[in-house]
Amino acid sequence: MCKTSLKMLVGLFMLVLSGAVHATDMHTQVIAATCMACHGPDGKSRSAFMPGLAGLEASVFMQAMQEFRSGAREASIMKRHAAGYTNAEFEAMAAYFAALK
Ligand code: HEC
Repeated sequence: MCKTSLKMLVGLFMLVLSGAVHATDMHTQVIAATCMACHGPDGKSRSAFMPGLAGLEASVFMQAMQEFRSGAREASIMKRHAAGYTNAEFEAMAAYFAALK
């Protein structure tokens, strides 16, 4: 194998690696986008009836989502929206929304 193709292979490998990191990010962003339909773009609610998510403390977010999922917290709609997500996905969303200003 000549040097150029080896360099290309390494380059391709790096591309795949950075792609994998990016993919995780995309996954969280796609989930979060579904929440923003109600909670407002960028997690900033436009309505007094809808809590905003931007800047919400991660631990508060985690607790809310886990309680919605288990049914421990009274919810009109959030029980359905919390169902089907893993704790890892909640954590990724928590970090994402907490970082939004
Ligand atoms: C169809 C509208 C809708 C969608 C979509 C939605 N929510 Fe909600 N969310 C609500 C409503 C309404 C409440 C108030 C509790 C209730 O009645 O269910 C709420 C409450 C919450 C709370 C509690 C906030 C607080 O301060 O108490 C969190 C956290 C939350 N939602 C996160 C999310 C996340 C994360 C998603 C996306 C996976 C999401 N929501 C998608 C409507 C929605």
